[in-house]
Amino acid sequence: MNILVTGGAGFMGSSFVRYLIKKKLVDKVINLDLLTYAGNLDNLRDVKDSSRYKFIKGDIKDKRLLADIITEFDVKRIVNFAAETHVDNSIKSPQIFLETNILGTAALLDIATEFDIRFHQVSTDEVFGALDEDDPPFHEKSLYDPRSPYSASKAAGDHLAKSYFNTYGTKITISNSSNNYGPYQFPEKIIPLFITNLMQDKKVPVYGDGLYIRDWLFVEDHTRAIWRILVKGEIGQSYCIGAGNEMTNLELTKKILDLLDKDESYIEYVQDRKGHDRRYATDTTKIQKEIKWKSEIKFDEGIRKTVEWYKANKWWWRKLK
Ligand SMILES: NC(=O)c1ccc[n+]([C@@H]2O[C@H](COP(=O)([O-])OP(=O)(O)OC[C@H]3O[C@@H](n4cnc5c(N)ncnc54)[C@H](O)[C@@H]3O)[C@@H](O)[C@H]2O)c1
Repeated sequence: MNILVTGGAGFMGSSFVRYLIKKKLVDKVINLDLLTYAGNLDNLRDVKDSSRYKFIKGDIKDKRLLADIITEFDVKRIVNFAAETHVDNSIKSPQIFLETNILGTAALLDIATEFDIRFHQVSTDEVFGALDEDDPPFHEKSLYDPRSPYSASKAAGDHLAKSYFNTYGTKITISNSSNNYGPYQFPEKIIPLFITNLMQDKKVPVYGDGLYIRDWLFVEDHTRAIWRILVKGEIGQSYCIGAGNEMTNLELTKKILDLLDKDESYIEYVQDRKGHDRRYATDTTKIQKEIKWKSEIKFDEGIRKTVEWYKANKWWWRKLK
């Protein structure tokens, strides 16, 4: 079976591509990526010479290109990781988020419908909005209540996928994951930003009071979840993915400071993000029961591995900062 992975040069997409190839799970992976500032072919250096791998530079909105790829490679599955992903950028300039995350997803859905191909939409728990400290976690039936241009654009992608399933019978699945971390994450996101700042003896900027709560999932756990959904997931369904590792940004920061032998004088409190969501968390009962997936990497192990990776791979991130 041949699979089209979009956004495979990004953080989570490249983890998925490496996994498929190293485990020999498919005959060929076609990685379609526009190589925006977040796309990086260095993420695929381990697999780039594999006969199972093919890279194509292009835009997910380009339906002619998509149709050519599907035909030429006899693609049977599409997994869409391609997106604009940084919330702060979406607050400054929403337009590109609407184009890629909404129109791009729509183009992929059109092609999946036309060629009758199974399509998986990689989405986020941020589509559900924000939780208070004592609210139960988000689940698959939670109401959508996006609060940033990023999460609104991802919510629109999810709605389109569900509407194509209902209207045309398109074979879709959706996943809504909590925050991922791990190797190859672009150093604009909090964990790699903080690790690399501290390695350069710079301070780490903590938004507001630092008490925003996130659930941190190691990227390789996410990768396994997506593969399980492709193999075992029910068409038309969505699945929440999370790790049960809720912590405040301040707790997270202190763990990173510890691992890099730095003290709290390296914390710099900065002006809060506009519309900052207080807490995200997901209930993973459905994916655990129906698909037999659960996260395996404990946070302390994952963050240690991540810090080690950034220490051993300065060549990778130095050119990105
Ligand atoms: N990072 C997280 O914690 C997280 C959590 C839940 C869901 N997600 C979702 O997972 C997916 C991957 O996130 P990530 O953190 O790996 O993102 P990323 O920013 O690291 O990578 C995105 C990739 O998409 C590519 N891309 C952007 N626009 C494109 C276009 N028009 N055509 C083709 N390729 C394009 C970029 O070049 C890049 O390689 C996204 O859909 C994101 O919304 C991310």
